[in-house]
Amino acid sequence: MLLSNEHSPINVNQPSTHHHTITATPAILATNLCKSVGEEPNKISILSELQLKVAAGESVAIVGSSGSGKSTLLGLLAGLDQPSSGSVSVKGAAFSGLDEDARAAIRGKNMGFVFQSFQLLPTMTALENVMLPMQLANQANAKQVALATLEKVGLSARVSHYPKQLSGGEQQRVAIARAFASQPAILFADEPTGNLDLATGERIIELLFDLNHAAGTTLILVTHDMKLAKRCQRSLTLNNGQLSESL
Ligand SMILES: Nc1ncnc2c1ncn2[C@@H]1O[C@H](COP(=O)(O)OP(=O)(O)O)[C@@H](O)[C@H]1O
Ligand SMILES: [Mg+2]
Repeated sequence: MLLSNEHSPINVNQPSTHHHTITATPAILATNLCKSVGEEPNKISILSELQLKVAAGESVAIVGSSGSGKSTLLGLLAGLDQPSSGSVSVKGAAFSGLDEDARAAIRGKNMGFVFQSFQLLPTMTALENVMLPMQLANQANAKQVALATLEKVGLSARVSHYPKQLSGGEQQRVAIARAFASQPAILFADEPTGNLDLATGERIIELLFDLNHAAGTTLILVTHDMKLAKRCQRSLTLNNGQLSESL
């Protein structure tokens, strides 16, 4: 399997830069990010003037209590949702002003996303779900890569199963395989070990950090798993709509 990413300017051998001033274009830059939902008088502010800079190749954990806005933040960083105000840039290119098709193109080229609720397509098998993003990107060896990735997450015996025939943990691993099969430059995962037993969770964590180390994949992980958060170079806590370094 290819470990380089042709779209990514990442230097594979470059160590973390988070203790230094980051001069290269960040993988992700969020500036004054605000998100509210609903109308007055029931308006809820979820994110409020949030700032985040993630360097290419960095691994960042986002922790915080349930309802603090972690999933909302991840959706905004990946351009799946639009902020009320403020901006998000991916490798220097801002999402603002782009329509859904243009945002989807940036995502398809740069990002993998593991949803908290998996969001597998129910009419497709595990294999077809994993192949789909690669097919949409006209990747030639989609089936081979999908099979190899499903093997890595321990699902070789489940490739022809449909999501409803799979356990929660198995669906989560299909979603993980789908997100990283194409070796995205930036991988977002929303509680990627939330439905896994300890041993399977550890295996998935190893896979995520293998990608980070070998291919320089930027990892942005929402997690309640302190072991996973500690593996990341930085751990940030979301509280009152803003991020701060975890204690
Ligand atoms: N579209 C929406 N409409 C109304 N409330 C929402 C919407 N999306 C999220 N929320 C609320 O915003 C808060 C943050 O949600 P979420 O980002 O899912 O939190 P977390 O992932 O940290 O548990 C929650 O109180 C949730 O109910
Ligand atoms: Mg969530």
